[in-house]
Amino acid sequence: MNDKQFTIGVLTSGGDAPGMNPCIRAVVRAAAVKSTEVIGVMNGFEGLVKGEFRTLGARNVGGIIQRGGTILHTRRSERFLEKHFQREAIRSMNSAGIDGLIIIGGEGSLKGAHALAEQGIKVIGLPCSIDNDIWGTDIAIGVDTAMNTIADAVDKLRDTASSHERAFLVETMGRGSGYLAVLAGIVCGAEMILIPEITVTVQEVARAVDEAYRRGKTHAIIVVAEGANVKISELAAALDEMDVGFSTRITILGHIQRGGSPTAYDRMLASRLGVKAVEAILAGESDVMVGLHGSDLVLVPLAEVIAKTRPVRPEYIDMARTLAR
Ligand code: F6P
Repeated sequence: MNDKQFTIGVLTSGGDAPGMNPCIRAVVRAAAVKSTEVIGVMNGFEGLVKGEFRTLGARNVGGIIQRGGTILHTRRSERFLEKHFQREAIRSMNSAGIDGLIIIGGEGSLKGAHALAEQGIKVIGLPCSIDNDIWGTDIAIGVDTAMNTIADAVDKLRDTASSHERAFLVETMGRGSGYLAVLAGIVCGAEMILIPEITVTVQEVARAVDEAYRRGKTHAIIVVAEGANVKISELAAALDEMDVGFSTRITILGHIQRGGSPTAYDRMLASRLGVKAVEAILAGESDVMVGLHGSDLVLVPLAEVIAKTRPVRPEYIDMARTLAR
C-alpha cells in the first residue's frame, strides 16, 4: 500500500504581480496545517523543466506577505506549450515526488496549467495578472495594487500638468485589455481614455483636448492603454502640431505598475485563493482555476478560462466618458 502524503508543487509564471508572495505563503501554510509538503518551483515552467526545486516550510515564507515580486522568481516560457517540454517537466516532477501543482499566473500560465492537466497532472490555477483580462474571475491578484500605483502616479502628474497648463499622455499597461486605462480614467478623472477595444483617430483626441481647454480646464490627462490603436509618441507629436491649447508631455508608467508592496485587498485575495487552492487539490480537484465571483470563491474549468478573455464592462467605459466633462 502506498501511504505517501500528497506533495504540492507551487510556481509563479508570466509577468510578476504584487500579491504573488502572499499567495505562495498562503499555499505553504494552508498545506502545513494538513501535514502536506510543499515544493517551490523556481523560475516558472522553465524551472519545472529543469528541476529547480526547493522545499518550502512555514518558516521559509515568513516576512514575505508585504513584498512585491515573487520569491520563486518567474519567467515567460513560450516553449512550454510544446509537448516535448511538458514531458520533461512531468519527468522532473515525478523524480522530485511532486503529485500536483498550484500555478499562479496570467492567461499564458493558465494555458500551460491546462496542458499539464490534460496529461494527467493534478493542477489548480490561480489568476494573477495586473491586466485583469482573465476570464472566470471578477479580479485577479495584483490588479488592485497596480491600480493604486497608477492612481498615485496620475495624481502627481496632474499637479504638474495644472501648474504648467499642459496635456499629459499617460501610458498604462494591460496588453490587449483596456481595463487598467478605463479604471485609471475613472479614478483619476482623465479627460479621455484610449483603449484597444475602441478605435480612435488623432483628430478625435485633438478635439477632446481642444474642448477641455475651451471649457477652462487647466490641464488635460489622456490615459493611453499600451494596446490602443494610436501610439503615444505619434499622438503627442500630432497634438503639438495641431495646436490644441495645451502643450503636450508623455509619461510611460511601464513596469512601475507591476512592482510595490501588495495592497491589503491584494493580500486578502491572494491569501483566500492560496488557501482554497490547497483545499481543492487535496480534495481531488484538477484542471480548474479558483476565481472570485462577487464575494465567493468558485472553481472554473481551465478549458473555459483559456478559451475566453475577460472584457472591460461597457458601463465603465460609458462612466469614464460621462465623468470627463
Ligand atoms: O501581462 C502583464 C504585463 O505587464 C502586460 O501589461 C505587459 O504588456 C507585459 O506584461 C509586459 O511584459 P514584460 O514584462 O515581459 O515586458
